Amino acid sequence: MRKEIEKIKETESPPKIIKNLYSAEEIKEFLKLYNDLPTTVHNKKQNVIKKRWLEGYNKKLEKLFCDRLKKEIGDFKMDNLLDESGKDCFGLIQESYAPIGLHVDGGFELKNQIYKQSLIPLTPIGSTIIFKNRFYEGSTNFTKDPEELKKKDLKYGQNKRSSQHLDMYGDKPFDKEIHEKYLKHENIDNLKGLEVELIYEWEIGSMLIFDRTHLHCSSSVIEGKKIGIATFTKK
Ligand SMILES: [Fe+2]
Repeated sequence: MRKEIEKIKETESPPKIIKNLYSAEEIKEFLKLYNDLPTTVHNKKQNVIKKRWLEGYNKKLEKLFCDRLKKEIGDFKMDNLLDESGKDCFGLIQESYAPIGLHVDGGFELKNQIYKQSLIPLTPIGSTIIFKNRFYEGSTNFTKDPEELKKKDLKYGQNKRSSQHLDMYGDKPFDKEIHEKYLKHENIDNLKGLEVELIYEWEIGSMLIFDRTHLHCSSSVIEGKKIGIATFTKK
């Protein structure tokens, strides 16, 4: 359990969408950066390619990104996965062909005072669902699937699996219409007790910022593939 929960709660605020933050030219540069970076994970089962945004590939973008994020959320420290030499990076760029399930990105160090996370879409079609419900432990995938729940042998950077969310937020069935429209990849029973805070419709040039304690997932709306940059911060 975390010690910093009260401090984390003090910095919480509603999710925020900033429109027209990045120009078409800058988005092109992000996509070039994505192409230039080495692949960290290619999970063929989940059909996802993950690349860490390592320092040194595009100094201009690094500065632009940090300056603009700081303008929105004030002082922060990065809290992304470390590279091989133990250095922090700017985030994770993810190319996915299938929707990501319900989870929280609470991080891998419970001593950290987690803060905000951001998402920049690099492709136009997609959406991200943020739930009102919050969770104060580390990075966790929430599932009822017994096969998933068996997975205990996790590598650095892998979320633990848990069904404890089913005992935390009550028994109210999840909204059928929202499930049908956005969350077909999730078993509706796995969403009981959850309420939607915000549905972020991806739009090129915009950025989503939200507290790292929010449960969230991607929507089932994907046309081919989608690419996005996720960055995690702490205080
Ligand atoms: Fe996430």
